[in-house]
Amino acid sequence: MLAVDKAVAFAREHRAAFLDDLKTLAAIPSVSTTPAHKGDVGRAADWVAAQLKAFGFANVEVAETAGQPLVYGEHLAAGPDAPTILFYDHFDVQPPDPLGEWTTEPFTPTERGGYLYARGASDSKGQLVAHMKAVESFVKTGKLPVNLKYLVEGEEELGSPSLGAYIAKNKARLAGDFCLNGDSGILGAEVPGILYALRGIACFELRVTGPALDLHSGLFGGAVHNPANVLARLLAGLHDEKGRVTVPGFYDDVRPLEKEEREQLARLPQDEAFWKRGSGAPALFGEEGYTHTERATARPTLDVNGLLSGFTGEGVKTVLPAKASAKFSTRLVPDQVPEKIAAGLRAYFEKNAPPSVRWELVAHGGTPASIMVRDSREVRAASAALETVWGKEPLFYRVGGSVPAVGIIQKLLGVETLMLGFALPDDQVHAPNEKQHIETYHRGIETFIRFMALIAKRD
Ligand code: BES
Ligand code: MN
Repeated sequence: MLAVDKAVAFAREHRAAFLDDLKTLAAIPSVSTTPAHKGDVGRAADWVAAQLKAFGFANVEVAETAGQPLVYGEHLAAGPDAPTILFYDHFDVQPPDPLGEWTTEPFTPTERGGYLYARGASDSKGQLVAHMKAVESFVKTGKLPVNLKYLVEGEEELGSPSLGAYIAKNKARLAGDFCLNGDSGILGAEVPGILYALRGIACFELRVTGPALDLHSGLFGGAVHNPANVLARLLAGLHDEKGRVTVPGFYDDVRPLEKEEREQLARLPQDEAFWKRGSGAPALFGEEGYTHTERATARPTLDVNGLLSGFTGEGVKTVLPAKASAKFSTRLVPDQVPEKIAAGLRAYFEKNAPPSVRWELVAHGGTPASIMVRDSREVRAASAALETVWGKEPLFYRVGGSVPAVGIIQKLLGVETLMLGFALPDDQVHAPNEKQHIETYHRGIETFIRFMALIAKRD
């Protein structure tokens, strides 16, 4: 029996145990943004490190960073003739809020209707554990056909603020032929896909202040400019009526979509109904001249993420608030530069903010977009592995979200990334009732096994 068949058979025999392992990790509330969960993020790191050690990884460490810890480990027994894969993923998760909307507790992984419900079950613990179980399946039935270096972080959902420093310090140790990034998905339970582009992101906060204190809106309203009114006007002006962003220079560096790529995107199973169903919005909206898929995955955007001002409690209060603020972010495409976007925003507010208020723009930094090659040896191996397991050729698609590690690894280590993970578009990532489709999780394990076997073969 071939090594790959032995590993696949082992994975099929251990489906129950492999699902239990995902439940164990998903039960740890590793919310990276919440200080009270710092210990839990550490516990998730320890769990990953313990698994790696159990599979014979060497130099396993839980490395402290300026923020949350990350895990490194290497398994180099395949020898110098076999490829070396740098595997990246994350064990941190988004906050589970709003808690009241969950059917079952976010950190009590629960099986229901073929899904495992838990915060992080899909983004990205399901993908991380799927790869670890593929590794286990080889190790327990023989040996790994490839060399592996694991780099699993606890700050992806914060924008990976410490990852670059760790990689810069450990360049030689992290060297490999390419990066396999598990924080990815496919197009549907029966529709395999390979994600080849992610948007970048730049996050901001605009703070508008006016009067020295909250005022009686009857006594001062009309004579004093209301910071909430000003904020609303400034934010509204960031788009024109055609849905285009008005920030000076915003589109200057945008790489136009090629005709051939647009044709390919148009063939994806993502029609108007798909985006309507996924969002639950009464109607769709977006930049003129582009399809919904292009708008959400291949065009740059600006969205308000939160607003804060005045009285928002129950009842009425006639206040003219002294301040108002908004958090907003832009999603970027190749070849936009986060710093240039910040400069454009500053110019916009300088031009449009009235002298009756003061304003401050805080730039929280950002990460550029990434676009990957679609015809490498790795991509061909991934396509073949997906096709074997799903019985269908995968489609190439883009996602509008961001995974900063792709750009960081490309820049610091100079290697290409292959995105290969099995999240589904309706997994409700970052939302209440996040779920991982269980059958897809098991198919994902098998795909990872077949991928590692294929990439190990010499051409
Ligand atoms: N896993 C997502 C990105 C993603 C979504 C990839 C769907 C593939 C399919 C990732 O964890 C994420 O949400 N990233 C954040 C990054 C941000 C905090 C810098 C995002 O895009 O908002
Ligand atoms: Mn993720």
